[in-house]
Amino acid sequence: MVKPDGVQRGLVGNIIGRFEQRGFKLIALKMIHSTPEHLEKHYAHHKGKPFFPGFIKYMASGPVVAMIWEGLDAVKTGRAMLGATNPLASAPGTIRGDFALALGRSVCHGSDSVESAEKEIALWFPEGIVQHELATAGWIF
Ligand code: TYD
Repeated sequence: MVKPDGVQRGLVGNIIGRFEQRGFKLIALKMIHSTPEHLEKHYAHHKGKPFFPGFIKYMASGPVVAMIWEGLDAVKTGRAMLGATNPLASAPGTIRGDFALALGRSVCHGSDSVESAEKEIALWFPEGIVQHELATAGWIF
């Protein structure tokens, strides 16, 4: 997901481009101005922590771009491409390492396990997905 700061800073194309270039297949994408209620479901595991109210306010401050990417080890590789949770610890070359400094403005989100990806897909894409083939099928796994 591209978070509101990433959308407002015009980083959507760059972030999508990195996943396409790496060889991942874009399965679904949409822009949503999410509500605090919806975001509280997505980040339920952080409820009650001191940063939670401010973080939800930021996430609901503008539209996000939610995406589903498919490919070899997509969750683990996708998280590596995002960089560390705290952008200050993110290596240059990662999305956060190239575009972010602060933990509360980290530009992007990525599911941290296949199990969370399944839950997050159900939460953000309840209508399901469109099946399609890429021209690169057969060349990139
Ligand atoms: P987390 O699930 O730990 O990281 P990730 O985004 O890498 O999966 O945290 C979710 C978001 O919560 C994180 O992107 C930024 C915010 N956050 C804070 O603002 N302060 C904090 O101390 C932590 C741990 C997270």
